Amino acid sequence: MTFRIAVLASGTGSNLDSLLEKSKSGLMGADVSFVLSDKPDAMCLQKAKDAGVPAVLALPSEDGESRADYDVRLIEAVDTESPDLIVLAGFMRILTPAFCDAFKGRIINIHPALLPKHKGAHGIRDTLAAGDDVAGCTTHFVTAELDGGPIILQASRPVFPDDTEETLATRVLEMEHRILPRTVDLIANRHVMVGPDGDVAVADSGSWVDKLPPIDDATFSPGY
Ligand code: GRF
Repeated sequence: MTFRIAVLASGTGSNLDSLLEKSKSGLMGADVSFVLSDKPDAMCLQKAKDAGVPAVLALPSEDGESRADYDVRLIEAVDTESPDLIVLAGFMRILTPAFCDAFKGRIINIHPALLPKHKGAHGIRDTLAAGDDVAGCTTHFVTAELDGGPIILQASRPVFPDDTEETLATRVLEMEHRILPRTVDLIANRHVMVGPDGDVAVADSGSWVDKLPPIDDATFSPGY
């Protein structure tokens, strides 16, 4: 039976593109069955429609609506599609504990920094501001703690002295497009185990390193 993912996104949807593309090519053993955005004009919605994703929904928040009330509607919308996994791919809302509990262990996020460093909405900016030599991205399970859930995969690249937020974000995004679909693939194939303390183990199950064009200065965590 197909492993079905729901993608929640607010923006351009380049991570959604990479999920759709890797699914189509057979590299990622999962299908995108549902795409939801809180931004009705977001490009990700049009991309999902163009790609023929079976269910596509804009779910904007209403005037004065609390985060808790929005998440009640969000839980219902996601539940209706009964996905095996929920992927936050640039979904720019902080989720309530109610949402995290409703889909416990079945939500992952992609973050544009090497967690646990630089949590929050400005991972790239904070990496540059800290003067880090290395930047990167992280996939992790989502818990009620913002960007604090168990880490699954990471990928890193050097920071160059002349990097701007834009140039660095572009290079990190390229890595996001590698590790997000790989993370989905690992979970779909039951190669990711979470221990009682939230520690994640990724089983040795081959690698994607040789399956995609190389990125010379990139480093990947075990499992990729
Ligand atoms: C990515 O940088 C992701 O890490 C962040 O939001 C951005 C989404 O980009 N949380 P896109 O919409 O997938 O192009």
